[in-house]
Amino acid sequence: MIGRLNHVAIAVPDLAAASAQYRDTLGAKVGEPQGEPDHGVTVVFIELPNTKIELLHPLGENSPITGFLEKNPWGGIHHMCFEVEDILAARDRLQAEGARVLGSAEPKIGAHGKPVLFLHPKDFNGCLIELEQL
Ligand code: CO
Repeated sequence: MIGRLNHVAIAVPDLAAASAQYRDTLGAKVGEPQGEPDHGVTVVFIELPNTKIELLHPLGENSPITGFLEKNPWGGIHHMCFEVEDILAARDRLQAEGARVLGSAEPKIGAHGKPVLFLHPKDFNGCLIELEQL
């Protein structure tokens, strides 16, 4: 059911420093910061030949990244995103098998303008999983 790894997301305490490190030290193609107020994050996408890295930094109050950075002050891997062809079919199958979908379980529009859902990390070996409609 899951397809390509769309991105790995890393929560970072300093977005400018992390962007500069990926651009200048690691020599990657780093995009501009984009605010995603619906998700409480500012994101920077880094294009790799086979996938993307998504740098996440808190935006506004009640950001889901704030608590994560309190527990992981140097930053850390926050989630992985897999592509699916039909996000509603994927959700229904996962829920039927007992997996918990975060929030209302209705897809939200993600950073690429496509519907996304998040799956509870306790159901997936401690890893927060994002599904993105192809
Ligand atoms: Co993501």
